[in-house]
Amino acid sequence: MDRKVNDFDYTNQTNPVSGFLLSRHSCHQLSAPAPQADHLELILRAALKAPDFQTLRNYRFLIAENDGLFRLGQKMANAARTENKTNEIIRRVALMPSRAPMVITIVATPKKNKHVSALDQILCAASAVLMMQLTALSLGYNGIWRSGWMMQSRALHQELHLQPEDQIVGFLYLGTPLTHEKVPAPATDPYAYTEWL
Ligand SMILES: Cc1cc2nc3c(=O)[nH]c(=O)nc-3n(C[C@H](O)[C@H](O)[C@H](O)COP(=O)(O)O)c2cc1C
Repeated sequence: MDRKVNDFDYTNQTNPVSGFLLSRHSCHQLSAPAPQADHLELILRAALKAPDFQTLRNYRFLIAENDGLFRLGQKMANAARTENKTNEIIRRVALMPSRAPMVITIVATPKKNKHVSALDQILCAASAVLMMQLTALSLGYNGIWRSGWMMQSRALHQELHLQPEDQIVGFLYLGTPLTHEKVPAPATDPYAYTEWL
């Protein structure tokens, strides 16, 4: 099917929601303030609105701010030590959570279900991450979804007292944008990523 791709300006103010979504971007440099109680509640409520087959809500959020960031860094450093990482890496991971005033570790706990696969349940938790990031952005904050080797590190799972079936789907760093990062341009031709069946 032949379609014109540039005949509609999605960032047009007459369509503020699509404009917001199309100008969405992450932010690496974050400072205080972190989302405060009322805003954090909205962010968590949005997470719970993620598409969820049978509304299982087989996920939870481990929130770190203030001293919690230090504790998370220590747990990451302990995990790196257990995994025989170099001193340089151990030092570096200890400081990772301090890159933002709030870090939310999103944990999916897929359970056996006749209709909802483990993958579905993990994808649901991942959708919750994006819901949180978008809601934070709408409230004037921003953040970045991070992963890395620690996501699968058994040693970190133990440090966080996770169960064997738990899976970390991301570390969402949240805060107030420190610099105005360049907003990436929307894809010029979204149909380059599609196929018609
Ligand atoms: C599951 C997942 C894991 C990611 N892990 C990292 C990461 O560890 N480090 C990183 O710099 N970006 C990571 N990213 C990408 C960033 O979150 C971000 O999307 C990327 O920097 C592109 O910026 P944008 O969101 O403004 O387009 C990850 C994204 C996803 C979806």
